[in-house]
Amino acid sequence: MFDLAPYNTFRLNVKSADGAVITNVAELDHFHADNALILGHGSDVLFTDDFSGTVLVNQIKSLSVEKLENGKFLVKAGSGLILDELIESLIAQGIYGLENLSLIPGTVGAAPIQNVGAYGVEIGDLIKEVVVYDLQRHIQEVYSKEQCEFGYRDSYFKRNKARPLLITQVVFELSSTFNPKAEYSGLKGITFKTPQELRNKVIELRKCKLPDPKLVGNAGSFFKNPIVSKELASTLKQKYQDMPVYEFDETSMKLAAGWLIEKAGCKGITHGNVGTWEHQSLVIVNRGEAKPHEVVALAKYIMAEVFNKFGIKLEPEVRTYDSKGEVSWDRL
Ligand code: FAD
Ligand code: EPU
Repeated sequence: MFDLAPYNTFRLNVKSADGAVITNVAELDHFHADNALILGHGSDVLFTDDFSGTVLVNQIKSLSVEKLENGKFLVKAGSGLILDELIESLIAQGIYGLENLSLIPGTVGAAPIQNVGAYGVEIGDLIKEVVVYDLQRHIQEVYSKEQCEFGYRDSYFKRNKARPLLITQVVFELSSTFNPKAEYSGLKGITFKTPQELRNKVIELRKCKLPDPKLVGNAGSFFKNPIVSKELASTLKQKYQDMPVYEFDETSMKLAAGWLIEKAGCKGITHGNVGTWEHQSLVIVNRGEAKPHEVVALAKYIMAEVFNKFGIKLEPEVRTYDSKGEVSWDRL
């Protein structure tokens, strides 16, 4: 058995039948795709049970930087690097663009999967290519930014169920000049003179709102922010005038799941060993020795309360696995 407790930030006490830590691409030639599950830092996963297959923990940590003729930098980052450590090291080398994504706890390779985003930047904005290893055919392939089909907490890789692809490298095109993106609430109106100042502010804001997974088990936002039609957003806004709504695209608006959960009376609640974070109700936390079924039950309770009050169905953001593999919430 392979202990998964160190590899899930929810700190659930789960195991898999087998497991291996991968440090370079050549090691992947020995693995077969059947019942394999790839993990990075485990900061976006929920295990509802012990897993019956093999877990591959990705720690491929290569890094190369090339200065292009246009003055930009091509950064080829091994997928097992921790994204926040990469950002810190790039700032020190005078390479900018990823500062708003500081302190997201996952690996570089998982970041394109759900197109991680924070404080007005999504990682897909800065990606040139993604290199993958096909665990069935044992070949490497390159996906262009367009082929990645990035969306809000979404990408081709998240939707692809046909082929077992392990992201081995992410290629970024980054800048040597600092063009701060400071439109998001909390950053707006501040003049950032250096990328380090912007990074420090993002870290400060995040520390106020989000629990540190080293101290309190959690997987960040448990649910996605709902995307609804402009008509529905406007109807709700008439009824709830303080409800945050954000422009999403021509026909849709994004709502704040955290606000909906709070107004449904679920902020800072505790059910047994689990609860929602006092400073950000979108985060389900392990308050001690939580069991997987407690997390599932609380998530379902929150979904029901929000649906009863607002008629909106929340969708989990965390990737959820039972003993056989990824499981849809309709089946839990
Ligand atoms: P894991 O949890 O290990 O894996 C996530 C999924 O990706 C799984 O389905 C896994 O199979 C797959 N996967 C992982 N690596 C690979 C690979 N190399 N190739 C193929 N598939 C792979 N997310 C945001 O977008 N914005 C935030 O601001 C944010 N804040 C967070 C704050 C906290 C405190 C926490 C705990 C989480 C937060 N997250 C946030 C969620 C999470 O950190 C990100 O989704 C991150 O990208 C997950 O990386 P990971 O390495 O932990 O992936
Ligand atoms: N809000 C509440 N109550 C709460 C939480 C939030 O009223 O308990 C309100 C806030 O006051 C604000 C709005 O909801 O008006 C949005 O809140 P916030 O700025 O904290 O962001 P979020 O929409 O809750 C998203 C991402 C986070 C990301 C932040 C910052 C999703 C699902 N979550 O949260 O990503 O860090 O924006 O950009 O999109 C993650 O994906 O794991 C994650 C942490």
